[in-house]
Order: sequence, then structure tokens, then C-alpha cells
Amino acid sequence: MRRGSIVRITIYGVIAGTLASVVAVLVPWLPTSASEEMDRIEFTFWFTTVICIGIFAIVAAAIAYSVLKFRAADDDERDGPPIHGHTGLEIVWTAIPAVLVTAISIVSAVVLAKNDDVGGNPLRIAVTAQQFAWKFEYPDETTSGSLVLPLDQPVKLTLRSLDVIHSFWVPEFGQKSDAVPGIETTLTITPTRIGSYSVVCTELCGLGHATMRAQVQVMSRADYEAFLEREASGGGEPSGDDGEAVFASAGCGGCHAFEPAGTDAAVGPSLDELEGGEEFIRESIVDPNAVLAQGYQGGVMPNTYDKSLTDEQLDALVQYLSDGQGG
Ligand code: CUA
Repeated sequence: MRRGSIVRITIYGVIAGTLASVVAVLVPWLPTSASEEMDRIEFTFWFTTVICIGIFAIVAAAIAYSVLKFRAADDDERDGPPIHGHTGLEIVWTAIPAVLVTAISIVSAVVLAKNDDVGGNPLRIAVTAQQFAWKFEYPDETTSGSLVLPLDQPVKLTLRSLDVIHSFWVPEFGQKSDAVPGIETTLTITPTRIGSYSVVCTELCGLGHATMRAQVQVMSRADYEAFLEREASGGGEPSGDDGEAVFASAGCGGCHAFEPAGTDAAVGPSLDELEGGEEFIRESIVDPNAVLAQGYQGGVMPNTYDKSLTDEQLDALVQYLSDGQGG
């Protein structure tokens, strides 16, 4: 190959590689990491991306050079020369990608193993998924509708589902796992950035799927201890006399409009004009298919609230809904 050709191929390669790099760097493909696990996932992502940009630059340069250099003249009707290929080239373009793909596999396997390894003494939090809400239970048996994590502390989440398959994902934490009825799955997270994020359900789990979100807060160790103390003393966990908190933690507002709670979802019927008194409200919570509001289908609302709510919580919720009727 002549020197001029090599220079041209190199120029094409640099142009293609630069364009691909600009797309890779300027578009925010990943959320800003907030966990050690996400840092490793990011590393895998960039390791793979750099390899891909290199291969893309080489292939694009070869194509651009060939298209321009070997272009037939408009009046040239002859067949091309009968070339059989090039064994040396074929070995090279098989061997190099094989090595690169193997490297990506090894890096991915190491990251997967490290991201599963929670270390000796993790904080354990039980996550319960249910159409269409998340519940978090801390080691001292405090429960909350939002996830609160201390900074730099490895956490082992155990995921359960009371009804259908849900999936736990916080984009900034990177890690994701399904919550499957009947089995227990786990997820390791080590938060590295103080802030507020969203738990997103990423498995289509019913009409309220899109509303199945919860807050995650990463805070200092001291703030976390204070949060637990507050919750334990009844500051946040719905107790027997706080229907509003039960409404929030059970996820009612994900599907129903209710003015006193400031919710306006329309998956299920509005709760603002309920007729039939407290008995009807109670029945509709524990056995939602007994009486269906006009225009709404049965089998959408979970029928597990008589199990997932305590009697006191249920009483408080019924009272709250009943008090909120405009009359
Ligand atoms: Cu739960 Cu989608």
C-alpha cells in the first residue's frame, strides 16, 4: 500500500473515531452515579464503549477509503477482478474481536461478582412490593414507605412481592432486580452520594405500574439514626390513628384521586364522593371486587390489604376516607 493511502485511511479513521467519541461523551447516556456498584457498571460501560469506538473507526475508515478509491467510472461496465479474499486478513479480523469480546466478558464477570458481594456486615432492609407501592422494613422492624440509607454503608435488600412480578430499580444506584412472588431475591447497594432519588418499578405489573414509585434518601449516618428514632417513636410510620399516613404508605394515591390527600390519579375510581358509609369503604378496601364502580374493571386493585394492613391501620384508613367525604 502506498504512503498516500495509509495517510488517507488514517485521516478517515480519526474523523470517524472523533465523531463517535463526541456522541459517546456529549450525550448523557447514564445517570450520575450514586453508588459503588454504579461506578463499576459505568466502568464496564466505558470499557466497552472505548473498544467499540476503536473498531468503528477502523471499519468506517476502510469503508470510506474503499468507496472513494475503487469507485467505478460511470461508463465502466466491466466485471470486477476475481479476488478470493485474504486468509491473513481474515485471521486478524477474527482473532482481534475474539480477544476484545473475551476481555469485555472478563471485566463484566468481575463487576457482576463484586456487585453481588455485600461484604461481612451489611445493613439489611426488607423490601415488599405490592400493586402499586413499595414498603421498606428496617432491622429494628421500623417500616416506612420511603427508603432511607446511610452514606457509604453496604446495604443488602431482600425483595419480596405480595402479588405479581415487580422490579426494583434506582437508576443512580445501577443495580436492578425483580421482586417475584414466592421467592426472595437480593440486591446489594453501597450509596456514595447524599441526595434524593426515585425507586422505579420496571416490570409491567398492572394498571398502576407507572405510578409505582417511592423516594430514596441517602443521608449521613447521624441523620439516618435520627430518622430511625423518629420512625420508631411513631413520627412517620402509620400508627392506629394516622389514616393519612396509611393512605400514603399503602400507595392508595397511586391509583385514586382523593382531595384531602392531594392525589389525582385516575387508575381507579375517585374517592371523593363515596356513598355507602364506613362499612362500604371497609369492604371496598379488603374485598375490592365485591362492588365495582361504574366504568371500572374487577381484578385491578390488590385484594391483599386485609393482610398487609393491621386492623388499626385499616380502621384509621376507613376513618380518614370517611372523614374526607365532601357530603
Ligand atoms: Cu410494580 Cu410495575
